[in-house]
Amino acid sequence: MYASSTTPSGTPPGICDVLVVGGGVIGLVTAWRAAQRGLRTAVADPAPGGGAAQVAAGMLAAVTELHHGEQTLLALNLASARRYPQFTAELEEASGQDTGYRACGTLAVALDADDREHLRELHALQLRSGLESQWLTGRECRRLEPMLAPGVSGGLRVDGDHQTDPRRLARALLTACERAGVVFHRAEAVRLLRDGERAAGAELADGTRVPAGQTVLAAGSRSGIMAGVPEHVLPPVRPVKGQVLRLRVPGSYAPFLSRTVRAVVRGGDVYLVPRSNGELVVGATTEELGWDTTVTAGGVYELLRDAHELVPGITELPLVEARAGLRPGSPDNAPLLGPTALPGLHAATGHHRNGVLLTPVTGDVMAEVLTCGRLPEEARPFSPRRFSNALQEPPA
Ligand code: GLY
Repeated sequence: MYASSTTPSGTPPGICDVLVVGGGVIGLVTAWRAAQRGLRTAVADPAPGGGAAQVAAGMLAAVTELHHGEQTLLALNLASARRYPQFTAELEEASGQDTGYRACGTLAVALDADDREHLRELHALQLRSGLESQWLTGRECRRLEPMLAPGVSGGLRVDGDHQTDPRRLARALLTACERAGVVFHRAEAVRLLRDGERAAGAELADGTRVPAGQTVLAAGSRSGIMAGVPEHVLPPVRPVKGQVLRLRVPGSYAPFLSRTVRAVVRGGDVYLVPRSNGELVVGATTEELGWDTTVTAGGVYELLRDAHELVPGITELPLVEARAGLRPGSPDNAPLLGPTALPGLHAATGHHRNGVLLTPVTGDVMAEVLTCGRLPEEARPFSPRRFSNALQEPPA
């Protein structure tokens, strides 16, 4: 039915060039960039602009979230972090909206000897990886952030790890997509359409069939359960629950914190992200509980307990929201980007803890894939094919 070309000219009139399944920030940035390149693009999502970004804190933490064994991912994270200022300017221009990007830096602190040891190891890894990070004494940390607890005994100052506001980012992307001519189908895509051995769009929950020359699975953790996708092609993503709180800093308290403050307390990450609009985001739990998005007393208690150890003054602040979301986790914590083993089907999912950070680079990578059929060099290690059963893969 479709020509094998991956360019717009290869798709018959009346059929979109690209259908993006999922309208979270990853699906939206893919659609926006594809439409900018002249592809007729549609998005299927019952509530575009929603998804995990509605819960995310928006840390752009390439350096402070570095983990042993994830140096390949680090390169992609840094590439995306570097693009953020330009990406933000372009998106704000295209949408006419502020996205809340703040070049504020991050302070990762330690409370006890174990935390200090953990931070020392992270610091050594950062330096070995050529990253900028400065060790501070407890007193130096408190000089930067006077609300920190007296027990803070040291920390890492990382001036390059910034933040953006994921809810504003999603809204701006939605508007930019609309202005670029992206068509929205406000229904869930429930089944991949096939034309022989080629993906050919999707069927929606209301029975509508949306044929497309190329289809992108960008449905976050739900990308792994799409009907009609052959078993060996399904992205191996799973939901990883995160509970997050939002507090409000009254005007009279400002500045409460001037940068993101984070720590590992009792083995779990806790971070406090202060927005310029007075919101203070406290996150996040990491729970392997399937599709559960219940906010639990235990989750809220642990977040407040750990955040209070870092910044005792938070108990004075109004608690305005507690919410849980699902990160799309992959087996190696890295995203799946580009062509799958099924011709015409691409993935843009599995971004796990880095969805907001990786939004700019994902848009650029997917636009290149959709227009030229080529995975750019920087994204080669993130091909979905690394998880496919090699015996069932067609020759490259
Ligand atoms: N990147 C922060 C989180 O996933 O909790």
